[in-house]
Amino acid sequence: MGAWTDGRRDDPTPCREADEGLFEIIARDGRGRLGRLHTSHGILETPALLPVINPNIKTIEPREMWDRYGIGALITNSYIIWKHEGLKDVAVAEGVHALLDYPGVVMTDSGTFQAYIYGDVEVGVEEIVEFQRSIGVDIATMLDVFSRPDMTEAQVAKCVQETIERAPASITASGTTMLNGPIQGGLFKHLRTESAQGMSEFDFAIHPIGGIVPVMERHLYKDYAKIMLASLPHLPPNRPVHMFGCGHPMLFPMSIALGADLFDSAAYALFARDGRLLTPWGTQKIETLTEWPERMPCVSACTPAEVRGLNKKEKTALLARYNLEVTLAELDRCKQAIRDGTIWRLAERRSHQHPALREAFLWLSTSPHNKKLNLQFLEELVLDDRDAARDRDQHAGTWEHAWDWIVKSQESPRKGGEPWGGEDTHVRPHINAAKKALKEHWRPQNRGGKGADEVLIAYGTSGPWRERLSDLMPRLEHHCPGLEVMIHTPIGLLPYSLEDLNPFTHIDGPQWLWRRRPDLAGVREELGHYGMGEHRIILVDLLGDGIQSRALNALRDAGVLDEKTSDEVSSQPLEKEERENAKLRIQRRHVADKMVLLFNLKPEFVKNLLKDSTFVVNRLGRVKNALLSNGTHIASPRLTDGGLSLTDGGAIEVHAHREKTMPVGFEMIDDASYLSKGLAWVVVNDDAEPFVRQGRNVFHGFILACDSWVSPGDTCLLVNLKGELLGHGISQCTPADMQHFQKGVAVKTRGGITL
Ligand code: GUN
Repeated sequence: MGAWTDGRRDDPTPCREADEGLFEIIARDGRGRLGRLHTSHGILETPALLPVINPNIKTIEPREMWDRYGIGALITNSYIIWKHEGLKDVAVAEGVHALLDYPGVVMTDSGTFQAYIYGDVEVGVEEIVEFQRSIGVDIATMLDVFSRPDMTEAQVAKCVQETIERAPASITASGTTMLNGPIQGGLFKHLRTESAQGMSEFDFAIHPIGGIVPVMERHLYKDYAKIMLASLPHLPPNRPVHMFGCGHPMLFPMSIALGADLFDSAAYALFARDGRLLTPWGTQKIETLTEWPERMPCVSACTPAEVRGLNKKEKTALLARYNLEVTLAELDRCKQAIRDGTIWRLAERRSHQHPALREAFLWLSTSPHNKKLNLQFLEELVLDDRDAARDRDQHAGTWEHAWDWIVKSQESPRKGGEPWGGEDTHVRPHINAAKKALKEHWRPQNRGGKGADEVLIAYGTSGPWRERLSDLMPRLEHHCPGLEVMIHTPIGLLPYSLEDLNPFTHIDGPQWLWRRRPDLAGVREELGHYGMGEHRIILVDLLGDGIQSRALNALRDAGVLDEKTSDEVSSQPLEKEERENAKLRIQRRHVADKMVLLFNLKPEFVKNLLKDSTFVVNRLGRVKNALLSNGTHIASPRLTDGGLSLTDGGAIEVHAHREKTMPVGFEMIDDASYLSKGLAWVVVNDDAEPFVRQGRNVFHGFILACDSWVSPGDTCLLVNLKGELLGHGISQCTPADMQHFQKGVAVKTRGGITL
């Protein structure tokens, strides 16, 4: 917020000259991000709300926005200033900051919205950008062509094309001033995509998503979500995305979860004039209220009835403050949710508060790209969705790409409990990412021997399971080496070897959720992903005492163990050596499966690497360190999230066995699957090399290439252009981020390797 002097908040500190116009990410949760936009009027923290200031009617003074509300940026309209002699003279002579008496970041719009409302504007394309630059705005906007949702495809295509054609002259006119390059495209996916791709070619600082005001006014929130997904994946990620005219807090969580960084709002003032209050769950009229929907600071000493008694001007001013406070509070919740890794969950929760928002959310999480996850929803939606046929016919595959764009950005595994939220739980993107990774990487051992045609599904309680199964597992390992044991969790089957993996292990829900007897058809379908679709399923309830005898009985009933062996197994403990060997094999499998899943390594390579490996275990018998036969400590399972931490020694081993060639650029260069290709490489330039070797973080701007499969939260190897290992760390971003960002941390280095 900055320092205060005599009741006034100090003016902002300009950013470093070299950083002007740069955007960096300081925290993320999937596509949701906390950023910093560097300007000469301070560093704007995002997501941010830019209140709209009408220079003729200032419902709340910009100075108060700065001093009292800590608002770092606002937006006003350069066309209104340009048209109004009195305003124009002051702006030209003293600058827009003096005109508004506001020291923070000033963004101006160009008159496009006036053209949409009144049909035309009198100003030229270059003229309005030059004017904005001449009055010293921080972020100007080109004169784009507004695309309405009721326009035909041909009309919208013209808006998109004309906006793109105006871009070069607008960029030239803007000089060094940051320029907004709005994305148009109405309700047509391919036109939104074309607009995003076309506008990306030019040196814009920010991309507002335009033409959405009528979409929001008509509560077409599903279309709003589609517009975002058709546009954002095609924009350079280092340019903030601004949702033009979106100021209703109800839309913030979903928008932010999908990657929005900036919002602007006239709603706080317009709704106030109408006696309406904004809330995160919709709009309420003050006429009908006895209590405040949320008791905000500006109304803490008065009741709605008292406010109704004020004169119109006072009432509007107070309600505008109320609306602004509510809006800022919701924005804060979103920001904290990004830090906590819960932005999708906040969007999920908010989606229940308005039917149109719910519809948008269901479309997002259950439309065709996701049908396997939730067939029932899909069918309801497709029957009811007039657009679905069009989506499928004209743009098949598009949404799949967009959903992948969300899923690929998720960090997994994560720390902490995962509150169950009904059906929605299954389609949370990070759960989707975890399930996808498991399905792609994990495979049964196929060791043959007893139990090779069966799979034991343990169900009935939440984790941790290892203590409950600590006696049984070594016996099964010894007597039925072919048997796979899987745990039935509310979000899917989890191999016992990965029994502490988040989020599978940490679903917080009612007991019956875990007590549910597995649905065999569903289980069989899942087993099919692992090549065990034909295996006989042996169900064992984990709840209560006697789990060992229940399991052995079930194995005997299934014919895996004969009567004699099963009696023997239950009555006689294993010999000490047999037990130790069995435990060692279980530990080895635990680490091996994590290396395959989390380090993307080939199962055969891992098996070979871990041959004769040993393990340091803690008091509770959990593996702390994995050591190779020569004593090298290569990795440590993480107790907090079930992940795996790589050591320097492990990085050297994994690096030495790389089969794939150097990454070139930041894209997938062939269609070959990334599976089992090892930890992703991030190639840094010569300037960064000595720092990385000392264990310092990798900053954006020093990366030359990376493997296409690196995601936020993934362990990666840091190499130079010769492919030599410099260190290893945790990626903070996606390949596209590595390609585009010029500021901020790209990889948090965990270990540097010196020569
Ligand atoms: N304000 C609200 N929507 C728009 C838009 O599409 N373009 C511009 N320039 N301003 C807007």
